[in-house]
Amino acid sequence: MSAPLIVLVGPMGVGKSTVGRMLAERLGVGYRDTDEDIVTEQGRTIADIFVEEGEPAFRAIEKRAVQTALAEHDGILALGGGAVLDDDTRALLAGQRVVYLSMDVEEAVRRTGLNVARPLLAVNPRKQWRELMEARRHLYEEVATAVVATDGCTPEEVTQAALDSLELKEA
Ligand code: S3P
Repeated sequence: MSAPLIVLVGPMGVGKSTVGRMLAERLGVGYRDTDEDIVTEQGRTIADIFVEEGEPAFRAIEKRAVQTALAEHDGILALGGGAVLDDDTRALLAGQRVVYLSMDVEEAVRRTGLNVARPLLAVNPRKQWRELMEARRHLYEEVATAVVATDGCTPEEVTQAALDSLELKEA
């Protein structure tokens, strides 16, 4: 069974897919994203799954997608922001090289607060973000082997910091 070279976790909008693709390029490996796997497998958007079946059903689909990707993929793997909520997923991440891309609440509001595609955050985004991060921060920290703060950083800087934190050699 293969294991990903790096698993990326962190809240939505932190830049997992942008940084993940840059890491894959720099390291000469493939990039995979469990959100994309779910959309391909289900043939509908994540928003549609939430609306049609609710969050618990989405989390069950997500859990299977993460298990499959962890077993199959040997490059860079980005997980959806809520994947770490699942106990079994966190257990599977133990022993993996996991980078937590973090941002503080002000950065999160700046990046996503005005994004109408995220209706959960549309009303009082600062409060929503504070609550979301209070519920999840310790879970991201629990699974992380390295934490990279992205506040005020470009994707290139974050990518370099992730490489430095893991002391990985480029291809
Ligand atoms: C979610 C994050 C999203 C996606 C879904 C739920 C969350 O992934 O899985 O909308 O609960 O934080 P990204 O972190 O890739 O945006």
